[in-house]
Amino acid sequence: MPHSLRSKDAYYSRLSLRAASIGLISPHRHNLLACRLTTQPQQAAPPTTMGTGSTLQLIRSTLAAARSVTVLTGAGISADSGVPTFRGADGLWRQYRAEDLATPEAFERDPRLVWEWYNWRRELIATKRPNPAHDAVASMERRFEHFWLITQNVDGLHRDAGSRRLSEIHGNIWKVRCTDCRCIVENRDVPIAILPLCQSCGGLLRPHIVWFGESLAAEDLEKSAAALQSSDVCLIVGTSGLVYPAAGFGAIAKQAGACIVEINIDSTPRSNLADATLQGRARDLVPLLLEA
Ligand code: OAD
Repeated sequence: MPHSLRSKDAYYSRLSLRAASIGLISPHRHNLLACRLTTQPQQAAPPTTMGTGSTLQLIRSTLAAARSVTVLTGAGISADSGVPTFRGADGLWRQYRAEDLATPEAFERDPRLVWEWYNWRRELIATKRPNPAHDAVASMERRFEHFWLITQNVDGLHRDAGSRRLSEIHGNIWKVRCTDCRCIVENRDVPIAILPLCQSCGGLLRPHIVWFGESLAAEDLEKSAAALQSSDVCLIVGTSGLVYPAAGFGAIAKQAGACIVEINIDSTPRSNLADATLQGRARDLVPLLLEA
């Protein structure tokens, strides 16, 4: 791995930790959740090491017997729709500095720059459609009585695929929030007028996105915790497992007794938590889980 990539990884880890210490994307908050849900940390079971076919059969039979399923998704599931990830070879945080674009301080310093970046992302995402992995997750919602989708993605593609029982824990790029009156409204303008103003009070609008150092909505955390705590199966798709609290969600489900299934093109720091891993593209693998 080239040195520049290593050092950017180190930069990101520092950023993540700093944000955690400020209090929000945080191991800290995860610990609070985990303390409520567990009494003692458990030893992670080794991932299933059978061939993909056998692993798939095992996952299908586990799903067939499951009453309650929680799915956690990250940028990898939308990568198959053409939305760039954050930390892959062409990831956004390899090209841009998160602290210049995705922090409340950045917005305070230069709201125009931040809006220009979000306009660029809106323009890109507006051309993308859900892929078979998004569709399969939407089908799961119809198949399982107790189902919850937790997504870190802000692109809205899960909603476009028909998912309704979901928490978009990092916000949604198609919503804006007033920095004065705090009202949240949908806005699908592409491009959005810079600088956009609130129609109710005239205040400056910002993207309804959770930035580094900010708190996730309490309602999202509560719904996510409840779903994770009661899952028989927790499916983790296309996330690097580096950003808290989502990075700790698999552990919460595991400690509550769920079978953890990870789908990713790569291994992640959370792979050792998984009872079964499928390595490959989300668009190829997630639909296979539902086949008889
Ligand atoms: P990352 O970019 O950190 O990780 C994407 C993950 O998807 C990696 O583990 C890849 O190996 C995997 N991946 C890539 N393509 C895939 C494919 N076709 N099929 C399956 N897996 C694939 O994205 P996230 O984990 O989502 O936060 O990042 C978490 C948060 O960090 C984001 O929500 C964002 C970012 O900063 C905010 O914007 C607040």
